[in-house]
Amino acid sequence: MPQTTTSGRAPLGVRQPQDLNAIVFEHVSLAFDDHVVLRDLSFAVPKGEMRLLFGASGAGKSVILKLTLGLLRPDEGAILVNGMRVDQMPELELLQMRADIGMVFQENALFDSLTVAQNVAFRLTEERDLTDQQIDARVDEVLGFVGLRDFADRMPASLSGGQRRRVGIARAMASKPQLLLFDDPITGLDPLIATTIDHEIVKLRDLEDVTTFVVTHQIRDAFYIAEHRAIQTDGTVEVIKEDAAKVNGVAFMVLHEGAIIFQGNASELLAAKDAYLVEYLYQTLPPW
Ligand SMILES: Nc1ncnc2c1ncn2[C@@H]1O[C@H](COP(=O)(O)OP(=O)(O)OP(=O)(O)O)[C@@H](O)[C@H]1O
Ligand SMILES: [Mg+2]
Repeated sequence: MPQTTTSGRAPLGVRQPQDLNAIVFEHVSLAFDDHVVLRDLSFAVPKGEMRLLFGASGAGKSVILKLTLGLLRPDEGAILVNGMRVDQMPELELLQMRADIGMVFQENALFDSLTVAQNVAFRLTEERDLTDQQIDARVDEVLGFVGLRDFADRMPASLSGGQRRRVGIARAMASKPQLLLFDDPITGLDPLIATTIDHEIVKLRDLEDVTTFVVTHQIRDAFYIAEHRAIQTDGTVEVIKEDAAKVNGVAFMVLHEGAIIFQGNASELLAAKDAYLVEYLYQTLPPW
């Protein structure tokens, strides 16, 4: 079971055989000049599970995702993705490794000279052995998930910030990666669209067995994701409210001063007594 920790070391999963974990950080430290961002950070995300990472602005959340992708390298420690050391991996192998990871960047890195549909299709065209018809069908499907089916032929410059973000989410989902990393996917979206994105994240977790690592400032949405479950009956998919304790494989993590100061489920987070956690959460606790 998930558990809290004040030691800066998240014990959950770290001692499991490494190939059961999609992501492992072992004693990772990173500083930019004399600015220490991560201090001896350890955690693991088992395959098929979800971690929701909170932390103040500048805490190092995006840095953790960039380390996972091998876009940054740590000063110390080991980082494994699907059992492979990415902190020492040559650039060419990193490119192959990233092909199986869907990433929604915080800054929405869309290609401005490509249409919405071309952006979403980009990796399908580059990396998968699919016919044009199959690519078009998948692009149409994922644009439908994010409510942008009618925007396929638009250019990114003509979209709102929230629409661009949804294109980024559709692009990350398009190739059905087994590991999805979301950097603050909900911020800037209106509450209805945010909820549809929450539903897609829940469905990916529960129906596609995707490992998801979600960095977010949106505590309401994080709880929504932790307290809902997707079920499929006779081809119909429903997202239903569920007791967080019954949603398997979901844990919150809180990053503070370079370490994971909390790991546990929704009710454990709400019951946490740590002064920083209480301060961080109290303005946003339910009812929202
Ligand atoms: N390439 C870099 N060079 C120097 N400092 C950096 C670099 N990347 C990140 N930092 C610093 O590392 C710290 C963590 O940055 P990071 O982007 O991970 O924050 P964050 O937790 O994602 O914040 P936010 O919630 O605002 O996105 C910040 O102080 C940032 O200024
Ligand atoms: Mg960030």
